[in-house]
Order: sequence, then C-alpha cells, then structure tokens
Amino acid sequence: MRLADSHGRVATDLRVSLTDRCNLRCSYCMPPEGLDWLPRPELLTDDEVNRLVRVGVTRLGITEVRFTGGEPLLRRGLPGIIAAATALDPRPRTALTTNGIGLARLAGPLAEAGLDRVNVSLDTLRPDVFKRLAHRDRLDDVLAGLAAAEAAGLTPVKVNAVLMRGVNEADAAPLLDYCVERGYQLRFIEQMPLDAQHGWRREDMITAAEILDLLAARHDLAAVGADERGSAPAELFTVDGGPATVGVIGSVTRPFCGDCDRVRITADGQVRNCLFAREESDLRALLRGGADDDDIALAWRASVARKLPGHGIDDPSFLQPARPMSAIGG
Ligand code: GTP
Ligand code: 5AD
Ligand code: SF4
Repeated sequence: MRLADSHGRVATDLRVSLTDRCNLRCSYCMPPEGLDWLPRPELLTDDEVNRLVRVGVTRLGITEVRFTGGEPLLRRGLPGIIAAATALDPRPRTALTTNGIGLARLAGPLAEAGLDRVNVSLDTLRPDVFKRLAHRDRLDDVLAGLAAAEAAGLTPVKVNAVLMRGVNEADAAPLLDYCVERGYQLRFIEQMPLDAQHGWRREDMITAAEILDLLAARHDLAAVGADERGSAPAELFTVDGGPATVGVIGSVTRPFCGDCDRVRITADGQVRNCLFAREESDLRALLRGGADDDDIALAWRASVARKLPGHGIDDPSFLQPARPMSAIGG
C-alpha cells in the first residue's frame, strides 16, 4: 500500500512532531509568553509514536522519517524513538529538525541511536539580535550544538535561516560565510503564515528573489539541477564555483507543492496531509481504541488521498491553519 493522493503524488517522507513545546520563542513562530501547550495525556507516548512509525515504514512506503517539534530535543525518549525507527526493516533514513539547544550533549547519543542527519535553525550570528528574535540568550548553545552535530557525523548538517525585514537581513552574508567555512549547508526560508500570533504580512516577507539578489551581490551563484536536489524543498546554488552550496526555500513565491512527498503526524497523533491542511485525521483515537495496524494504515491512506493540490496562500479565501507551526511540526 502506498500513500498516494489524487494529484499523482506519493508521500514517502514522514515528519513526526514529538512535542509542541519549545525553549525558544522565535517571533515568526510564537509569542514571548509561549502558548497553551498540549496537556501531557494528549501527547502520543513513545510506544504510540513507535507504532505509527512502524506502520508508516512497513506498510505504507515511508522511506524517510524526520522528527520535529516544537523542539524535539525536549522529548526525553528521543534516542529510544530513533533507535526504534532505525531498527525497522526496511530501515528508513532518519533526520531531526531542531533549534540546536542541547545538541552539544545529545549529538553523540543520537548518532549512536542511528540518527542520520540534522537541520538546525539559526537566523543570526549576533547575540543581541538572537536574543531579540528568539527571546532567549542562547546563541552559544546553538553554535556548540552545530559543531557537535558535525563532529558526530550527523551530516550533511543543514542550517535553516528565516530572514525578516528590518531584523536580520544583515545576517545573510555572515551566516553564509560561517556555514561555508564549516561545511554546513545553509538554506534561507521565506517566512510563511504559520505564526501563532497571525502577524504574517505578505508585504513584509523577504522573497526568494530578494534573498538571491542579496547573496549574488557578494557571491557567484549557479543553480544546481533539480535532479541533484531530489525532492527537498530548497533550490540549490553553488557558491563561488562550489563545492559549497546555499539553498533558498521559497515556500510562498516558488511553491514546491506539485512535488510534495510529505505527510505529517502531530504530537497529539493527528495526520496532517499538508502543513496548511484544513483537516486532520485522528490516529490517536484509533490507537487508543484498540484498532489494528490495518485500520490505522487505511485511515492514514484515506487522509493522504484527500490532500489538496497546493497550499493556496495566494487564494483570496486562504485561511491560516488554526494550529501554529510549533504544534504542526515544522
Ligand atoms: P531536507 O531538505 O530534506 O533536509 O528537509 P526540509 O528542508 O524539508 O526540512 P526542515 O524541517 O529543515 O524544513 C525547512 C523549511 O521547509 C521549514 O521552513 C519548513 O517549514 C519548510 N517545509 C518543510 N516541509 C514543508 C512542506 O511540506 N510545505 C512547505 N510549504 N514548506 C515546508
Ligand atoms: N515560516 C518559515 N519557516 C518557519 N520556521 C518556523 N516558523 C516558520 C515560518 N513561519 C522554520 C524554523 C525551522 C523550520 C522547522 O521551520 O526556523 O528551521
Ligand atoms: Fe521553537 Fe522552532 Fe518555533 Fe523557534 S521556530 S520558537 S525554535 S519551535
């Protein structure tokens, strides 16, 4: 059985949110005071997560599993969850999207548990800007986490930067230099309407085209062919002849929905067939109601089958999802 939709796409990339909590408060994501976190009993247990990953991998054709949050390093059972995923046959590729805090300590154990690679969010190299943007003074922890990930072989280490007008445009060039020097693959991301505060304005967004202009003013960029990029959302460019590359994820102005191979499970066990989905399917209720693996696989497949062709951000009727990014899973 495959997770096919009615637009010819097949989901093979599962993104599992392990918690909606976070130890940062990035302004494009959540307000300084935090959010009403999901009550613990509503979160999937480690065993429930492991079971859904097993059903996805062994029955539904999932080949890559990414753990996200909120901040997935806050989940105590993370090494065990990764070990359970990598013990499956066929073994899925595994990845983690994290803000990097705690990675200095955890990179080694996670690599030992079988984690293949990490993507780390980093929007600035200036401690004062970091503090203003994320409302916590933790830049050094993130940089230490990045170095530990590289040392533990969680490679290629990818770095995600969201650029915001009047906040961190000036960080684009220094971030690129920093990442090129260390062999991290930097990707700049267009800000999407997924913040809990609903403060996103299209006019404020720094577009992929602007980002490329900004970088091209200092570097020689050449587009890497779509084949080499695979289904990853970033358009890749070699920097000054390579081998270093930089990516631009133009989710809003250059949507990759037509090639989307993703499906998500929220920390409370709901399938979301798109980041911007208007519907969810409750796998947790099935798990807790005694359903067997066949029932779970069928419900999951039915949800993906209903996936819409695109995110529709440009439609006049577009409505931001009720759940913010931190509760959906990046
Ligand atoms: P790889 O390139 O495979 O390493 O992963 P990734 O870039 O998909 O993962 P990551 O979690 O690092 O996400 C980077 C950015 O892409 C984030 O801003 C995500 O929200 C965005 N993104 C990830 N998945 C989707 C998606 O399904 N749709 C859209 N529009 N954006 C996505
Ligand atoms: N728009 C774009 N990217 C976002 N991220 C979080 N919120 C948004 C948003 N509104 C990024 C984080 C992280 C990844 C999971 O998504 O920086 O790198
Ligand atoms: Fe935390 Fe990620 Fe949201 Fe920042 S973007 S507040 S690191 S969940």
